[in-house]
Amino acid sequence: MEIRLYVYTGTGNSLWVARQLAPQLKDATLEFMPYLSKDLKVEADGVGIIFPVHIWGLPMRVIQFINHLQVKPETYFFAMAVNAGQPAASLVQMNKLMSTRQLPLAMGYSFVMPSNYIPWGGPGPIDTQQRRYREAQEKVQAIAGPVLRGERKKVDKGPLWQNILFSLFYKMSFPYVYKLDKNFWVDDKCNSCGICEQVCPAGNIGMSNGKPGWLHRCEQCLACLQWCPQEAIQYGKKTVRYPRYHHPEVFLQDMLEQAKANKDPMGLP
Ligand SMILES: Cc1cc2nc3c(=O)[nH]c(=O)nc-3n(C[C@H](O)[C@H](O)[C@H](O)COP(=O)(O)O)c2cc1C
Ligand code: SF4
Ligand code: SF4
Repeated sequence: MEIRLYVYTGTGNSLWVARQLAPQLKDATLEFMPYLSKDLKVEADGVGIIFPVHIWGLPMRVIQFINHLQVKPETYFFAMAVNAGQPAASLVQMNKLMSTRQLPLAMGYSFVMPSNYIPWGGPGPIDTQQRRYREAQEKVQAIAGPVLRGERKKVDKGPLWQNILFSLFYKMSFPYVYKLDKNFWVDDKCNSCGICEQVCPAGNIGMSNGKPGWLHRCEQCLACLQWCPQEAIQYGKKTVRYPRYHHPEVFLQDMLEQAKANKDPMGLP
């Protein structure tokens, strides 16, 4: 079975999970998930979608991707919702979305990794981060076999109360995500390197007089803030005192490749 993995990431957690899985799945290829505004034809026998959970649900990029995917009949789909402990109903949401397109999701797994949602704090103690990496590695080992055998299972989800309450919060906030970038600001540590502009997968940053400005088509991946080498980008009032995070085995070059892949999406007619 030829498997194609599509990954979206802000701080490398999802990319790292995808990279752990790819070698376990014979012939699996790994690509960055483009932001689709027109259909993408994928010829693989199996497709894996690996994404970060945002605000207890699917980021817009993932929704666009599913909505524009054109596949062969009988394509095998699985998903990995990379999160910080609250996947809530993100995989249920994905299952429903895919069903509306007659693309049934065979399996959906939650992977708990360190949090990159810095407005609520840092990624947590190092030993907790390392435990999460270890557990994610073990889970990857456990799912490779079932994926290769084309098995079908119920998707992972959070407790019922979370699914109900947080899905409501998701629905309320989703229409406004693109303009949440109004909360970003840059402090005087900025040295005008331009990395924030280059790393943004959404092309949402423009430089003006050597400083970044946000253009209100933000996906809230937080790559700009987390990858700024000067830690000069802030969000609201609290991030000044919180440590930055990205996965230790994912590098700026990976993020630049993601942004580039998005500007020149592969596979588009
Ligand atoms: C805007 C935003 C919203 C988030 N919402 C959630 C959430 O609802 N539940 C959760 O467990 N983690 C949430 N997170 C944390 C990320 O899902 C988590 O850190 C993930 O591992 C990041 O993956 P990445 O490095 O591939 O982007 C959120 C992160 C961001 C940036
Ligand atoms: S990445 Fe940071 S230092 Fe570089 S231009 Fe952007 S805000 Fe300034
Ligand atoms: S502006 Fe920052 S948070 Fe928004 S999409 Fe770009 S990199 Fe992600």
